Amino acid sequence: MQTLLIILNVEIMNFELFSLLQDIPQGQLFVLTDSHTKEHCLPIFADFIGEIPYHLLTLEAGEKSKNLSSVQVIWDFLLKHRATREAILVNLGGGMITDLGGFAAATYMRGIRFVNIPTTLLAMVDASSGGKTGFDYQGVKNMIGTFTPPMATLIDPIFLRTLPAEELLSGFAEMLKHALIASQEEWIKLLQLAQDELPQAQFAEALFTTGALQASIAIKEKVVAQDPREAGLRHILNFGHTVGHAIESAALENFELRIKNFELSPSHGYCVLWGMVAEVYLSVVKLGCPREVLQQLTQVMLQYYGRPQCNCRQREQLIQRMYQDKKNSANKTPNFTLLRAVGDPVINQHLSEEDINEALEYLFSL
Ligand SMILES: NC(=O)c1ccc[n+]([C@@H]2O[C@H](COP(=O)([O-])OP(=O)(O)OC[C@H]3O[C@@H](n4cnc5c(N)ncnc54)[C@H](O)[C@@H]3O)[C@@H](O)[C@H]2O)c1
Ligand SMILES: [Zn+2]
Repeated sequence: MQTLLIILNVEIMNFELFSLLQDIPQGQLFVLTDSHTKEHCLPIFADFIGEIPYHLLTLEAGEKSKNLSSVQVIWDFLLKHRATREAILVNLGGGMITDLGGFAAATYMRGIRFVNIPTTLLAMVDASSGGKTGFDYQGVKNMIGTFTPPMATLIDPIFLRTLPAEELLSGFAEMLKHALIASQEEWIKLLQLAQDELPQAQFAEALFTTGALQASIAIKEKVVAQDPREAGLRHILNFGHTVGHAIESAALENFELRIKNFELSPSHGYCVLWGMVAEVYLSVVKLGCPREVLQQLTQVMLQYYGRPQCNCRQREQLIQRMYQDKKNSANKTPNFTLLRAVGDPVINQHLSEEDINEALEYLFSL
């Protein structure tokens, strides 16, 4: 696989990891990993930086580490090794690590610099850019956080080689979302990639060589640049997430949502994929989105993501969760982003329970 370092932060276009890290004072380089990225990704990173010494902190892998005590562990680690304002924290991992490390860096001594090196597809195309940092609090995902951009996001597809298949598909779902809200051309490209049924390593490579990965990142960056603090337009990135979050939180709370091929809770991207199927259905019914888009997405779902199953009473509970979503405005009707067509999203669509129920019926009858 061709390995390239793509440097996305426009302000530091000519920046190179090596030269930057060489300039930092002795003892001021800090690296955060989780237990999996320590094993799979740290050796690659260490090769990159050669002889430059660094302090390493490793947290247990998994969303359950994304909490306040882990933030304290990072602060204590920085303090213990006398991190100053000159320090740089490198977040080497998936979205759990880039969100958490970003928050700890954004708040330590009122903010030190941090670099994200995302190692999951989801973090490459979504979590590591856009400036959101944070952690889960009192059972609510991303409850506490900041908007603080990293000094750079370095993306190298080499890290995808060791990623479990389920995690790759989780990130692919967010890529499908980016294409659906922004570009017919990218949508067709991704459908083609899905149809090719490549083995995982080749699939990961093709994401890069076809430019699909780069295009997906560019879509998110463009939306964020126009609405950095989520005042309006950025809501288009929530496409698929109104239903997706309801499924995800229900699954996390041991709600008996049976999902084919899953013993554990499904990853975020799977829930988003199912959410998008329901929301494209609503887009067809409410906004006249071409039915072909629904057929195409349904086909990808059946081929790769499996069918979630859910009975009538559980459908009712999912709808209640959508009403409780923190993104709702005062009137509390679930707020959807829908599509008039691929690349033509419409935000702030408030729908009735009957409409939502019909879309869920479609999703769960597949
Ligand atoms: N800030 C944002 O804008 C934003 C956007 C989307 C998601 N997120 C957050 O991102 C998180 C989800 O991100 P994620 O899916 O990357 O989860 P994750 O960081 O938990 O990674 C998923 C799993 O993959 C492992 N892993 C990571 N890289 C690997 C590699 N190269 N090889 C082998 N294993 C590897 C991890 O250890 C973990 O077990 C959530 O906390 C979510 O809230 C944030
Ligand atoms: Zn998402």
